Amino acid sequence: MNKFKLAVLGNPISHSRSPEIHKAFSRQIGIDLSYQKIEVPEGEFDQVAGELMLQGYRGFNVTVPCKGDAFRFAARCSASAVRSEAVNTISFIDETQVQGDNTDGPGLAKDLIENHGWQIENQRILVLGAGGAVRGVLWDLLQRSPLMVHLYNRTVSRAEAIVKKMAAQELVAVTKDELEDGYDLVINGTSAGLAQKVPDLPPRILNKHSRCYDLVYGTRITPFNDWCRRTSECEVADGLGMLVEQAALSFQLWFSKTVQTSQVIADLRKRL
Ligand code: ATR
Repeated sequence: MNKFKLAVLGNPISHSRSPEIHKAFSRQIGIDLSYQKIEVPEGEFDQVAGELMLQGYRGFNVTVPCKGDAFRFAARCSASAVRSEAVNTISFIDETQVQGDNTDGPGLAKDLIENHGWQIENQRILVLGAGGAVRGVLWDLLQRSPLMVHLYNRTVSRAEAIVKKMAAQELVAVTKDELEDGYDLVINGTSAGLAQKVPDLPPRILNKHSRCYDLVYGTRITPFNDWCRRTSECEVADGLGMLVEQAALSFQLWFSKTVQTSQVIADLRKRL
């Protein structure tokens, strides 16, 4: 049987769960897969990616901090990749054609809607942060007809710059004073949780019907989700489902097969 070669590129990369997720998908459809973790030294993305192409890789995933490099590397990009200027999936169509996609945004939308039964359409949404994580998902949220998306960042000018670039009517950068009461959905895309911190926010942004989603995940409840629960007893979810959904969408791009994700999410949760 043909062994398909895939990888995930980033730096650091040792923590990545992508190999086990893709191996689980490959078992579902009965293909033989090797999936490497490759640490990319600064400034060497093109060289590493070019070598994988020559070695006959089907494609690769891309994580922090290489998504912008991957966007520049890909000759053809999906609309989501172009609008977010980020690529998390490279497909080698043949020896000359490189396709770049961004499955982070669609993966988030899938997790919210299909796994959690939440909505984006017609919702009053608050997105927190203005770094790469937020840029990667914002355009896909806007494609799903929210009533409005408020973008709040500690450094307001960074949120304003994103809004200017996205040029979507529903998207507005807000200051702390302009934050509204009781958003339907609050998405944390800041990296505050990595330092066990929570963005400084007024509790009134939540009510008990709010739903809160943290783009990151951990072995226990994230600091942001913990704050949300304690503030308003609302529903919360972390980014583990998004991680698996974005992987499933990458897998679909490479092999044109749909895979089941719920068991993969549950198994991964147990192993965290
Ligand atoms: P990433 O690519 O992971 O999104 P980033 O580009 O460094 O990382 O962005 C990190 C985001 O988290 C930024 O929006 C940052 O806010 P600033 O632009 O004001 O720096 C936000 N962030 C990090 N720590 C934070 C904290 N303690 N409180 C609030 N926001 C924080």
